[in-house]
Amino acid sequence: MNKAWSPGRRLTAALFVFLSSAGTALASDLAARFARIEANPRLHQEAYAAGKARATLCSVCHGEDGNSRKPEVPNLAGQNPFYLWKQIDNFATGRRRNFVMQALAKDFTDEDKINLAVYFAANSPRTAPADPQRAPRGARLFRQHCAACHGPDARGTRDYARLAGQRREYLIATLTAFRDGTTRRRSNIMTAEVKALSDDDIADLAAYLSALR
Ligand code: HEC
Ligand code: HEC
Repeated sequence: MNKAWSPGRRLTAALFVFLSSAGTALASDLAARFARIEANPRLHQEAYAAGKARATLCSVCHGEDGNSRKPEVPNLAGQNPFYLWKQIDNFATGRRRNFVMQALAKDFTDEDKINLAVYFAANSPRTAPADPQRAPRGARLFRQHCAACHGPDARGTRDYARLAGQRREYLIATLTAFRDGTTRRRSNIMTAEVKALSDDDIADLAAYLSALR
């Protein structure tokens, strides 16, 4: 199942993500906002400090700096801020389901979401040890099926999640949920990308990605 990279396909996916994220105007406002914060050290410092103060609630599960303490909890450190913002918003609106995350997210203002996203995005992710049994095949599958959107080094882009250094168990659970179409998490794009993968393919991908810097 070699899916060649096609600009048309990628553009359609990006457009879909863009439109479904939060409305066109809000999405471009947000992107501009993150760009301004990124470009201005003083604004970045302020957002980082405010995010850090807000993140005390998150540390039990995601770790103080966003390197998770539990296998089923994703790392947030180094994730792209736009993606983080969008997922917090998805929990707040119920588009994405998780009991604790929905309860926490609904109390956040837009400002809180921005500050939390800036804080976690600026921290360094810690990677898992390499698994030489599975990782090489995972790397091949990644190049074939995933790199077009998530980037050649799996570091993500504005619209696509960083996968490098993500928790192995979380990756397996998430990819399996996308494939099997459970209500926990929905994405037509991701379901299409993983529906042909076996459990072994998913385990190989997760081994490769979790050890990637
Ligand atoms: C009790 C544990 C717990 C606490 C506390 C918690 N989270 Fe989470 N969080 C989770 C779990 C579990 C998931 C994964 C849900 C899933 O499987 O879809 C998650 C997912 C996320 C995601 C999506 C990440 C991704 O890669 O898609 C973000 C963003 C997030 N949490 C932010 C936060 C923030 C910000 C706080 C603090 C205000 C917080 N979480 C507190 C357990 C927690
Ligand atoms: C056409 C673009 C596209 C391709 C190709 C693609 N993805 Fe994705 N991926 C997405 C989008 C869009 C999302 C966000 C879904 C959402 O909003 O929940 C996503 C989300 C994910 C997530 C959730 C990240 C997190 O932190 O929770 C994982 C894991 C993932 N993709 C893995 C993969 C893997 C592995 C492959 C290859 C088998 C792949 N993706 C191929 C577009 C793509």
